[in-house]
Amino acid sequence: ALRDTFARKAHISDQRPQYGLHPQASFKVAILGASGGIGQPLALLVKMSPLVSALHLYDIANVKGVAADLGHCNTPSQVLDFTGASELANCLKGVNLVVIPAGVPRKPGMTRDDLFNINANIVKTLVEAVADNCPDTFIHIISNPVNSTVPIAAEVLKQKGVYDPKKLFGVTTLDVVRANTFVAQKKNLKLIDVDVPVVGGHAGITILPLLSKTKPTVNFTDEEVVELTVRIQNAGTEVVEAKAGAGSATLSMAYAAARFVESSLRALDGDGDVYECAYVESNLTELPFFASRIKLGRNGVEALISSEIHGLTEYEHKALESLKPELKASIEKGVAFAQKQA
Ligand code: NAD
Ligand code: LMR
Repeated sequence: ALRDTFARKAHISDQRPQYGLHPQASFKVAILGASGGIGQPLALLVKMSPLVSALHLYDIANVKGVAADLGHCNTPSQVLDFTGASELANCLKGVNLVVIPAGVPRKPGMTRDDLFNINANIVKTLVEAVADNCPDTFIHIISNPVNSTVPIAAEVLKQKGVYDPKKLFGVTTLDVVRANTFVAQKKNLKLIDVDVPVVGGHAGITILPLLSKTKPTVNFTDEEVVELTVRIQNAGTEVVEAKAGAGSATLSMAYAAARFVESSLRALDGDGDVYECAYVESNLTELPFFASRIKLGRNGVEALISSEIHGLTEYEHKALESLKPELKASIEKGVAFAQKQA
């Protein structure tokens, strides 16, 4: 269960998935920002899920074509399109899981926090609609800066009186996917077996891979730890620079988000053995939001896995302490924004 079951499934796609008590499609998933760089490949991957009965695609433009195209795939889910604010409520009614990749991406030279002014408003507006139309849904926030957009979403849900901290997630799966890839490459390991927990947040030094907790057990030199940690922390920037103004990670992000969607649906379906890392309300540190491994269940976060943030190496311990001020400031910025707007 600690392994990447999404990747594993892709490798054994000729076999039935081994999980799930009710293998038939039954869940409704909405993607807000569905015609964007992440939204489109994410919609395709979610369309492939055997657990999805309906896929609701929402954007402010260009979503009709995406839905018409995707709807021709002969997988079980029905694809419906919704364009613009007037169709948002209908998009959300009855959905079990909402994924939000709506918003602007970085260009070279920008930090994720530089996106705050535009994306904070987008996330706020969308989460208000979620609160009004499907308050019980799982909410996966992808829009950056995740360190602030998740606290914004929490405040909005509180203001609407429907906040359930167990069902609000900042998607940090891409950090885990990258860590697994880079470690497997560096140490010449079988990719499918490598599992590195990544904790903290989702920006620069707040992304903290716990390499000492890698499964299977791997020995790293001090130089390897520094090199891998820095690469994982800067991997988003690596893609932003390679795309040279055309956006940030979209394909690897869609892959990672689809893994997190599939894990969440398996948990909703009654699989009692689902673990992922995500940025959630937390009491593992003094920070109110913190990414760590979580156990997912029918009602969302069933447990925060505290064991992995104990027994850290000196390097990890120092890195954890030094990420806290930045993460705290990003959380407070999000909360202040949402409270000011209320
Ligand atoms: P994009 O510009 O290609 O797509 C964004 C989409 O959002 C567009 O289709 C746009 O029309 C739509 N949109 C804008 N305002 C909207 C609104 N009010 N309602 C609904 N849709 C709206 O960008 P992208 O590459 O898909 O990235 C989207 C976001 O995801 C960015 O903020 C980016 O930083 C973030 N991101 C996060 C991670 C992560 O690991 N969490 C990884 C990659 C990207
Ligand atoms: C990523 O990690 O790829 C995303 O957060 C996008 C970005 O701006 O780097």
